[in-house]
Amino acid sequence: MSSHPRPALAVIGGSGFYDFFDNDAVHVDVDTPYGTPSAPVAIGEVEGRHVAFLPRHGKQHEYAPHTLPYRANMWALRSLGVRRVFAPCAVGSLRADWGPGTVAVPDQLVDRTSGRPQTYFDGGGIHVSFADPYCDDLRGAAVKAAGSGELRVEPSGTMVVVQGPRFSTRAESRWFAGQGWDLVNMTGHPEAVLARELEMCYAAVALVTDLDAGLEEGQGVHAVDVFAEFKKNLGPFKELMRSAVAAVDGTDTCERCQVHAGVSLPFELP
Ligand code: ADE
Repeated sequence: MSSHPRPALAVIGGSGFYDFFDNDAVHVDVDTPYGTPSAPVAIGEVEGRHVAFLPRHGKQHEYAPHTLPYRANMWALRSLGVRRVFAPCAVGSLRADWGPGTVAVPDQLVDRTSGRPQTYFDGGGIHVSFADPYCDDLRGAAVKAAGSGELRVEPSGTMVVVQGPRFSTRAESRWFAGQGWDLVNMTGHPEAVLARELEMCYAAVALVTDLDAGLEEGQGVHAVDVFAEFKKNLGPFKELMRSAVAAVDGTDTCERCQVHAGVSLPFELP
């Protein structure tokens, strides 16, 4: 029998979130049928709740967005008891009026990645509903939390996920903006759909670090600037995420995210 607590909530994000907890976290090694996750999962407390934290890119940022073990990461969280996941991430903005330091809680996603394993159901027959890729309960908790913080918040938006690890060309970026999409990122897919397949509520919480290259004001995106800008707002962003965790009502998957109800699955969810 394992001796660690069973967390119902998780945060998957940058390694800057390690000091997110009120206490000293325990670190749990998890193995999955899809390999090992990016790092051991930290389990600690936030406002009296057991919460798991997984640094998406690994402890030392050793995984690029296109090499991340997405399936192992989400499987590992679910196998520890997690049912609801917040996914803080850095994003570029495709609109001049959502400058760096804005926090957006997207309600839609566009997948422009390629070649990433993005399902647990290779055997066929299971097709999850993904019309609304994010959990509205978690989005609501994040927006509510953001309202009392110091960062500007946008309560909805469309996030396009690119393959990376390069940033977009000006033409690609102009095209994205022209479609009416608001944010661009490299890790939001397949994380969101894998959470859905495992019946975990999932919401991305996006911190704008730059104006993407297609905007007239955008000077071309450089990783050093993105990291520096993220670091600048990390303190208030972490506070926002702590408040969001505390604002979540209920610790089980919400009804809308229980997409397999009445479906017989080829294997048991972990
Ligand atoms: N992450 C942060 N900024 C980004 C950008 N401009 N494009 C893609 N991913 C990003």
